[in-house]
Amino acid sequence: MTRTIVVHSHRGGTGKSSVLANLAVLLAAGGLRVGVVDTDLQSPTLDLLFGLAPGPGSLADYLLGRCEIEAAARRTVLPGLYVVPARSGTADLRELMTTGYDVGLLPEGFDRLAQRFALDVLLLDTHAGLNNESVTAMGSADIVLIMARADRVDLSGVEETIALAGRLACRRALVLSMAPEGIDREDVRRRAEEVYGAPLAGILPYVPQMAALYGERIFAEALPDHPLVGEFRAILSALDARDEVSRA
Ligand SMILES: Nc1ncnc2c1ncn2[C@@H]1O[C@H](COP(=O)(O)OP(=O)(O)OP(=O)(O)O)[C@@H](O)[C@H]1O
Ligand SMILES: [Mg+2]
Repeated sequence: MTRTIVVHSHRGGTGKSSVLANLAVLLAAGGLRVGVVDTDLQSPTLDLLFGLAPGPGSLADYLLGRCEIEAAARRTVLPGLYVVPARSGTADLRELMTTGYDVGLLPEGFDRLAQRFALDVLLLDTHAGLNNESVTAMGSADIVLIMARADRVDLSGVEETIALAGRLACRRALVLSMAPEGIDREDVRRRAEEVYGAPLAGILPYVPQMAALYGERIFAEALPDHPLVGEFRAILSALDARDEVSRA
């Protein structure tokens, strides 16, 4: 049975793609079969984060009917880790925006990938906010991992997303990111739990090396002993411990 985890945030730049890439690497390094799909068609990143060379297939090609979804899945250096980039060039994204596509192809494609690659976990990256791809991805999720920066502005926005996740009846977890040094973690935790009515799966500190390595190496591969990698592992444990994550 494949577990589908969607990483989403109300606002952009909360660290979704970085966190997803790190979780994917840790899961695959632990021996699981992991699929990753970049559904962020407006501003894709995962091809860059995973250092994928331009190739023949992408999610956009699949949605345009030009390839099967499995043909768009790229092997990575980690055995058992497959990545479907959003784009294979920029033209197909523009084309997709112009012509539109059948949104039902997304869940069909996720299922197909899960079966074809016998995936233990499927991780879906999303564009920020509510849009066709993010809502459809959430509809396919077992868990929606909602990210927000650990500040008041970001905390105020995610209620809408929480409400949507609730309507979709999937499990949800919240991760706060880029917490400044010296932050009162307990206070942040309390405020966040008040807003979400759900326990946090993690509070990630602001780590300058994370930004420095962005696009060059995935943090957990480059600095496996860094405390931030311990925080990523703790998120995975929280997602495993069903009690830690509230059901809508
Ligand atoms: N814990 C962190 N500490 C410092 N910088 C971070 C941290 N997490 C992510 N970043 C940096 O923040 C920037 C945005 O990260 P990322 O692209 O993962 O966010 P995103 O939510 O996917 O953005 P978008 O909404 O544009 O898709 C990157 O430069 C990344 O390196
Ligand atoms: Mg992103």
